[in-house]
Amino acid sequence: MTDDAEARCGDGADAGSEGDTNTAAGSEDDTNTAAGGEDDADADAGGEVDGDREANADQGPTPETSRAWDEYYRGDEWEREAGIAGTAGMAEMAGRFIDMVEPADFASVGCGPAAAEFELAERYPEVEFYGFDRSPAIVEDDRREADARGLDNVQFAVDALPRLETDRRFDVVYAVGMLYWVREIEDAIVDLYTHVREGGQLVVNYPNRYLHYEVLDEESDADRDVAPLVRDAENLMTFDEVGRLLGSKPRSYYTLVGAEDHRELKWPIVVVEKRG
Ligand SMILES: C[S@@+](CC[C@H](N)C(=O)[O-])C[C@H]1O[C@@H](n2cnc3c(N)ncnc32)[C@H](O)[C@@H]1O
Repeated sequence: MTDDAEARCGDGADAGSEGDTNTAAGSEDDTNTAAGGEDDADADAGGEVDGDREANADQGPTPETSRAWDEYYRGDEWEREAGIAGTAGMAEMAGRFIDMVEPADFASVGCGPAAAEFELAERYPEVEFYGFDRSPAIVEDDRREADARGLDNVQFAVDALPRLETDRRFDVVYAVGMLYWVREIEDAIVDLYTHVREGGQLVVNYPNRYLHYEVLDEESDADRDVAPLVRDAENLMTFDEVGRLLGSKPRSYYTLVGAEDHRELKWPIVVVEKRG
């Protein structure tokens, strides 16, 4: 993996916990015991995916970062398996989650090269997979890859947060390693949740203050510049804030899928069920 790719896609190998704080983003206070893992235990799709939303592609409130992604995918420095989804047992964890909830469909938002989604689509032919990304370049490439693999249970479309244009709902909506580039993070998380069918599950990873410190600690400006919103603490969230926003208590994804060894404070992934 190139340095650039690693900087962009990170290394999810040891990522993860919901153990961030309920204090203001960037605060030194680390007193949210609830988020430390103790409460983990509580912690209309169909048919073809809608056509690409060119109007929603590569423009909007954070055009500078999304354009950078599209340019990145138009280059030749990225590798499908080198992104977050291709590392760190992300496909393995998602597979365990699918085994638990047995969804009819699974939507990945900000899917990028979709390494995990391809692996899962091969493993679960009965599940319909949908990948959405703001970058037209990666969506085109993902479609070619799906054809090359002969997969007919995975489809891709250009679409973007903070407000997806698709009106479909899914049993699982999964957004990992992508909210770092979304300024309107609260709107985006609410929008993701609206795309979960009743009884379904949102799996979401969000930037927190631990990741912010990690970005500040990067050695070069170039590395710090990869995630400018996180660097500038403009879109940081906490476990409790996600719960308040959605009116439902999150649970730790890592705990649910039995992957405690993947926890790290800077990389929270939570599950929020959609109740009727
Ligand atoms: C780190 S990459 C790929 C993450 C992928 N989910 C994974 O696990 O490997 C982040 C992706 O988010 C996409 N992205 C950034 N902002 C977005 C937005 N507002 N809406 C949808 N996708 C976005 C980028 O185009 C990029 O493909």
